[in-house]
Amino acid sequence: MTYVLHRVLNSDLPSVIGGDGNYLIDAEGHRYLDACGGAAVSCLGHSNVAVREAVKEQVDKVAFAHTGFFTNKPAEELAEFLVKRAPKGTGDGRVMFLGSGSEAMEAALKLARQFHLERGETARTKIIARAPSYHGNTLGALATGGHAGRRAPFQPILIDVDHIDAAYDYRMRGDGESEEDFALRMANQLEQRIQALGPETVMAFVAEPVVGASLGTQPAPKGYFKRIREICDAHGVLYIADEVMCGMGRTGSLFALEQEGIHADITTMAKGLGAGYQPIAAVLASEAVVSAIESGSGQLWNGHTYMSHAIAAAGALAVQKVIESENLIANVRDRGVQLEDTLKVRLGQHPNVGNIRGRGLFWSVELVRDKATKAPFSASGKRAPKVQKAALGLGLMCYPSQGCANGTDGDHVLLAPSYTSTADEIDQIVDIVARAIDSGLEWFAT
Ligand SMILES: Cc1ncc(COP(=O)(O)O)c(C=O)c1O
Repeated sequence: MTYVLHRVLNSDLPSVIGGDGNYLIDAEGHRYLDACGGAAVSCLGHSNVAVREAVKEQVDKVAFAHTGFFTNKPAEELAEFLVKRAPKGTGDGRVMFLGSGSEAMEAALKLARQFHLERGETARTKIIARAPSYHGNTLGALATGGHAGRRAPFQPILIDVDHIDAAYDYRMRGDGESEEDFALRMANQLEQRIQALGPETVMAFVAEPVVGASLGTQPAPKGYFKRIREICDAHGVLYIADEVMCGMGRTGSLFALEQEGIHADITTMAKGLGAGYQPIAAVLASEAVVSAIESGSGQLWNGHTYMSHAIAAAGALAVQKVIESENLIANVRDRGVQLEDTLKVRLGQHPNVGNIRGRGLFWSVELVRDKATKAPFSASGKRAPKVQKAALGLGLMCYPSQGCANGTDGDHVLLAPSYTSTADEIDQIVDIVARAIDSGLEWFAT
């Protein structure tokens, strides 16, 4: 009997009672190696002492003081930490702290609209995003996302957002097409769409630098984001980088966009920011965006009760200091190479593994019905969730998703291990995922 409205109402979930390094422990004493951080959240494992202490210390000082009355030291320090490390071109930006990735995406969209209004460009109302993509579950964020299955029940009540194709290398790059040509072809879809809508009406372009769960850890082809930056600049369109899942070190640099050599006008962050020790998200506005507000109304046209929550900010600040002082992003890169290599050796030849893609400690295995034609399984067979279940039975957590191939069909299993992962843990992760996939040969045959 439960009074909690769970994601699946009749599911029989184990109750979690503890965390020990990269393992979670349930009430019956079972231990699960967390290879996905839940949903790319728990980047420092589940028992980091410095972060736990920082949270406790802040509780003993003050928990909540409304931002209409006060600021607080952890929020100020965390904002400075992020701005000082943001990609070149961000300038002297500022950061707003919120509670979830969806909330951050809503705030980013509203900030983009405010930027244009402050400058008198009132006709700029249109948003262009990509499909597949996922930007959150609140109505504005859901409308922005390009995941057909998640949008379907709510379609009639979603705001109108335009979508171009995400640069999905495995399925969209032509035979013999170079990476650079593919990048240009895909980025130029943005130019064409802006022209079709009327450049003076477009407010923002939204894209994840490395696409997360909707497409399965898909990095952009070389040169893609440079061309996106040029197009946005040419038309006065703001680029909103959704780094909720791929940011904060996950792909081998603090901001995923650093590796693309550009900056965003507005950046959202969440999962790796607080590493799950606190619910926290952030919106970083570049200097250009802040300046427009400073020389306009001087006010943020958005507010939430729990903005800049002191305990959340203290927890996130401690997380970021641990990542930096322990040089964990170097470990993300090293263990990432190991993860890629071992996945490819162990699963590259598997008849139902179509593609293995990712960056840093952010990798996915796409399952297909037919390797030669790339035909996906139909969603109803729930192959990725079945792999997740088999892996869980072997003591490993991985993250299944469906819809990458056409919005509904297409299965992949996503891995996002902790930045503290050891070489031995990475080997165990690959071994168990491979055994879970092998154990599915009978479901793959149907
Ligand atoms: C890229 C991206 N943006 C936004 C969100 C929404 O974040 P939240 O679930 O914290 O609202 C997610 C969540 O998975 C995400 O992956």
